[in-house]
Amino acid sequence: MLYIGVDLGTSAVKLLLMDETGKIHKIVSREYPLYFPHPGWSEQKPQDWYEQTIDGIRELTADCEKSRIAGISFGGQMHGLVVLDKEDAIIRPAILWNDGRTAEETDYLNQVIGKEKLSQYTANIAFAGFTAPKLLWMKKHEPENFGKIEKIMLPKDYLAYRLSGVHCTDYSDASGMLLLDVKNRCWSKDMLEVCGVTEAQLPRLYESYEVVGTLKRELEEELGLPEGVKVVAGAGDNAAAAVGTGTVGDGMCNISLGTSGTIFISSKSFGVDAHNALHSFDHADGYYHLMGCMLSAASCNKWWMDEILRTAEYEKEQASIEKLGENQVFYLPYLMGERSPHNDPSARSVFIGMTMDTAREDMTQAVLEGVAFGLRDSLEVARSLGIQIERTKICGGGAKSPLWKKIIANVMNLKVDVIESEEGPGYGGAMLAAVGCGEFDSVEEAANKLVKVVDTVEPEAWLVAKYERQYQKFRQIYPTLKGLFPALAKE
Ligand code: XUL
Repeated sequence: MLYIGVDLGTSAVKLLLMDETGKIHKIVSREYPLYFPHPGWSEQKPQDWYEQTIDGIRELTADCEKSRIAGISFGGQMHGLVVLDKEDAIIRPAILWNDGRTAEETDYLNQVIGKEKLSQYTANIAFAGFTAPKLLWMKKHEPENFGKIEKIMLPKDYLAYRLSGVHCTDYSDASGMLLLDVKNRCWSKDMLEVCGVTEAQLPRLYESYEVVGTLKRELEEELGLPEGVKVVAGAGDNAAAAVGTGTVGDGMCNISLGTSGTIFISSKSFGVDAHNALHSFDHADGYYHLMGCMLSAASCNKWWMDEILRTAEYEKEQASIEKLGENQVFYLPYLMGERSPHNDPSARSVFIGMTMDTAREDMTQAVLEGVAFGLRDSLEVARSLGIQIERTKICGGGAKSPLWKKIIANVMNLKVDVIESEEGPGYGGAMLAAVGCGEFDSVEEAANKLVKVVDTVEPEAWLVAKYERQYQKFRQIYPTLKGLFPALAKE
């Protein structure tokens, strides 16, 4: 049988077609615009996601044996607020995971409702990109729109809804709304009350591998697909990527170098850290995970290459980088503010340490290293909980760079396992579709059978020691500049 995995990303939707042996038959991708209507804001049009996904499915399935297509599922950008009115029309553009407009609402939740209560209700505290503060923002700044809300959903759930007609979400993605009681896998009545919304406005909750419905008949006809293609709930992109890299069960780790950068630690038991610096979310395998999320990771390198150096030759720019662990230049990777562990929407990117002999490649190196140091900040929180991690999987666009993988391995002192397919969320989405269609008994079984490690980047003791010194310098930069960032904000 064939399964479609949809990775609904921030810059593009990527679709892949996988068979029951895990072989990828085809990958297609379609871009859509990202809108920044104000510095620090970030929006997209759900209709763009839908149109590009349908167009992508058409190309993806154009030359395959269509009768073999059994299911479709998703890994979707998390936290985005999608709101529909009673005619099921989109009320306003989606407010995305990397949008920083809700500093005031986030402060209200953390200070007035209080972190302790939030953690007790949801296992998490408020971060600007989470969905609940966006609802409070809408209530205050767009009361008319807020009054029209009939359904609240997350980005990939909008796709599932348009494909199947079912209002659904899954536990992993719902965890990032700050409306879910993560430990008990149900909506938190207390949080719904805080946000002034009702359970009827929220979609029905499913496990990521559960079937929510079938493809609408008219879509099957339009796309020439067989009757009864199953739509499976899917997961937030990080949980889907974890499935796609085999990061399931207990104590496994995955690093994703996409637009965002995440470190994801799977666990069979529920847990939180004392300061809620890491997110404590449900996992797509039916269990739990801890996660640190940087808002800008591969996007820092993309910005540096595309917008500043104005080059498409990423490999060539990295080829001249030789002085690992000795760079005088440091870079704070906070182009969109920062989530984990600092929780500071006003943080900004900074280059520091340049001298007259600083070269172009030192700056490029600083960007790659800055992202690795930022991820290490979250790893340190996990280590402080006594979690011992020796190795990690890696995925996302940034994982294509051998140099970046080497930097990650040595900055974090982790063995980096490279898997056959770096298509994390899309591959995980297809695997969830396969589990939903009964091809495998569990997500863990699918991961054990389909995910193959093809290489390991080992940390080298001498370089780990050099990077340790560099990291200790890096970690002083943000606290020193922290007080300055709000004053730099555009009036
Ligand atoms: C996770 C997060 C990002 C987005 C990226 O909490 O906000 O990783 O899911 O799509």
